[in-house]
Amino acid sequence: MTGADERPVIIVGGGAAALSTAISLIGAGQPVMIIGKDGVGDGSTALAQGGLAAVLDPADSAEAHQLDTQTAGAGLCDPDAVRELVQAAPGAITRLATLGARFDTDRHGDWALGLEGGHSARRVVHAGGDASGAMVAATLGSAIRSAAAEGRAELVRAMVSGLLLGADGEVCGVQTVDEDGTVRQLRARAVVLATGGPGRAWPLTTNPPTATGDGLALALRAGAVARDLEFVQFHPTALDVPGPQTVLVSEAVRGEGAVLVDETGSALMVERHRLGDLAPRDVVAAAIHEHQLTGGRVWLDATMIDDFASHFPTVDRFCRAAGIVPETDPIPVRPAEHYHCGGVLADLSGRTTVRGLYAVGEVASTGVQGANRLASNSLTEALIAGERAGALLARSAGEPTEPVRSTAGDGLDRSALPALRSVVGRGIGVLRDRTGLLDALAALDGLDVPGDGTRADIETANLRLVARAIGTAALNRTESRGCHRRSDHRRTSEQWQRHQELIMTAGGDF
Ligand code: SIN
Repeated sequence: MTGADERPVIIVGGGAAALSTAISLIGAGQPVMIIGKDGVGDGSTALAQGGLAAVLDPADSAEAHQLDTQTAGAGLCDPDAVRELVQAAPGAITRLATLGARFDTDRHGDWALGLEGGHSARRVVHAGGDASGAMVAATLGSAIRSAAAEGRAELVRAMVSGLLLGADGEVCGVQTVDEDGTVRQLRARAVVLATGGPGRAWPLTTNPPTATGDGLALALRAGAVARDLEFVQFHPTALDVPGPQTVLVSEAVRGEGAVLVDETGSALMVERHRLGDLAPRDVVAAAIHEHQLTGGRVWLDATMIDDFASHFPTVDRFCRAAGIVPETDPIPVRPAEHYHCGGVLADLSGRTTVRGLYAVGEVASTGVQGANRLASNSLTEALIAGERAGALLARSAGEPTEPVRSTAGDGLDRSALPALRSVVGRGIGVLRDRTGLLDALAALDGLDVPGDGTRADIETANLRLVARAIGTAALNRTESRGCHRRSDHRRTSEQWQRHQELIMTAGGDF
């Protein structure tokens, strides 16, 4: 970078994509401010169980990882982006190990490689059995906290309520609201959105409370192009016990031999896909959902896995808390919203269609995930995109710009949230149809009690905006592909072998 522009790069988010962007910028000596709603580590990363996909076994190949990613992506992956990801993956994981991450090893002392749905080889690096995300979050978080303690990064706990735009629509800062309601405007050389997905719009999600679609909503309001929003991935196996918090039962459990069974004990997936229980997750989620629609229930029989608790301590802990002992009891499961494959159109270095605005990780649509993400590619992508965005920003000079407006509003009263979730769960779930989508969109439009600018009201407005955008995209795509399934258009259509881009109009339509 040249010149004396001292404004920091502002990174919004607290997960792997945010922290990896920050580490890359800090390494280049750049001023960085990380703004998280609940502080460093507040994203979905810490909840991830499976791990990080990369080709590390000599018997595996980059071509196979690419093919598996594109097969799961159902015709909408960008082959160049996937190639970049697959080639960069081993290096990204090695860098994480250099920062102190300790991955599980096999009896030879090499990294143990797990198998998950849609993968044709063992290539998932994991930690603490099923505590991989916690290891990634702890490793990156500790590097960031050290940098902050040395004055090389500023950590801010606040809700970003809007983006500051210059006269030409370029992003030059953010508006925030603190817990006590204080509003600030912070200038930035560039803003990187690394806010994860919109999982909290659904009644059932594996995502943490921070996953309220903030980055996508901010980008839409700033005029950015969003892409393939209809592709929302539902994880097939969330623990099916009463209570608001849904817990993942990692796909790696099926990778170790667990089998999905119905109430008669019959294997659910055997006749449905050549990969059986390890079919891509859209296929498994749809099979469970359709079985549930007939009044049935589904369990994951993991009783054949020796020493379950040491392989999957997180799952074991949550099962036992619900009175289920995985060594002897089948685990009740159901699909839950898990990952947004679409998002803000960006390249693997985070560049969006708006100058000064970058998007990395789940909030971005880079062409890696296509119509359905391959298991354990997300943490890998977050690390790589973050690293690249940081490197790109470290090389580029900022042009000091005066903000002329903020996109922040007062939000939507949080009392609308239960209704919003139930509308989204009914109309924009695993299986959609035109009537359900139209009803959902009308009901979302009807939720319009203004908020008062607090975090909860802004989050509710973000969820509604993002749900409207996803519902609109899902209505437009009159086919089934990847994780977008229409009961009234069950076939994949050649005409829809293309991306769908959305921009928000000044009136708030798409
Ligand atoms: C899992 O452990 O099943 C989730 C992994 C992922 O979402 O990639």
